[in-house]
Amino acid sequence: MDPVLPASAEADLAAAAALLAQGRLIGLPTETVYGLAADARNPEAVQAIFALKQRPADHPLIVHIGTLEELQAWAAEVPPAALALARAFWPGPLTLVLPARPDVPRMVTGGLDTVALRMPAHPVALAVLRRLGRGVAAPSANRHLRVSPTTAAHVREEFGDALPLVLDGGPCTVGIESTIVDLSTGTPRVLRPGAISAAQIADCLQRAVDLRPAAGTRAPGLMKRHYSPRARVECTAPNALAAHVAACLADGLRTAQLSAAPPVQPHPALVWLAAGETPDARMQRLYGLLREADILGVDVVVAELPEGDGPAEALRDRLLRAAGQGSVPPN
Ligand code: TXA
Ligand code: MG
Repeated sequence: MDPVLPASAEADLAAAAALLAQGRLIGLPTETVYGLAADARNPEAVQAIFALKQRPADHPLIVHIGTLEELQAWAAEVPPAALALARAFWPGPLTLVLPARPDVPRMVTGGLDTVALRMPAHPVALAVLRRLGRGVAAPSANRHLRVSPTTAAHVREEFGDALPLVLDGGPCTVGIESTIVDLSTGTPRVLRPGAISAAQIADCLQRAVDLRPAAGTRAPGLMKRHYSPRARVECTAPNALAAHVAACLADGLRTAQLSAAPPVQPHPALVWLAAGETPDARMQRLYGLLREADILGVDVVVAELPEGDGPAEALRDRLLRAAGQGSVPPN
């Protein structure tokens, strides 16, 4: 049996739900990135996620749900702000951190008393979740600290035959991980920027939103280095791009230029990774291009940092982390 199946088939959805119900892990497409999915209430299955990803035990997982009603099964309380955001942006690329019910397995929350919840928009993910009728823990389906997968083939590259099934839902349409908003304290905070911007969140809530985790709180998973390819990544402002690339080439480095516009001057040791023209296109392509840099075997990726707010902010966050210069200090 070829485990990468066309996910439209009814039989594939049934197989996915059955495997999850049996405590197995599967590769699941979402609109952001592919997830490594398991029944969030099954401790052995959740443990298997940590083992396969080589993920530290204190690094919490997002629980994916298929209906709004399921919020009550995980959150100890659902404040009006959570309902407002869920109604506005779910299903979609938004994760809400809420106080966890006492019966939520602390293995899922990394030992925290809060739980992260998301209703994904990808029709395959939603169909599997609704068929299963239970929450599904699904981190991005990559090994710890590596680039998140945005196609079923990427998931196979990461985990080979370790998974009994990878549902193929096509390339992810968003391309970077969900925006995470913490609603468990007095002030809503964006813990991880994403396609849904802080301004959209603030508009919906009609109040200011903090852009950083609270000082002194544990913000697990917000490492400076994350989402990295094997090649070194160096970020640069658009107006410094050409000089930075020229300096790498002068050092004899095989160089990839990740930018909207092509290089000003061709060079045999230089490849262009076409970042895309719009912020949406840039998000959608980013992780595939970082993987391509590794396939090409370049020494360095010189990445142009997009300017502006909203999606550009999320892109800068991921590029800086790929470079090991994360914009959010780990605390
Ligand atoms: O788009 C996404 O969110 C993807 C897809 C598969 O849904 N999932 C994803 O999961 O990015 P993962 O495990 O790669 O990232 C989850 C992040 C953690 O790194 C952590 O920063 C945050 O969610 N998180 C989870 N639970 C949390 C909690 N209780 N408090 C604070 N942050 C939490
Ligand atoms: Mg991840």
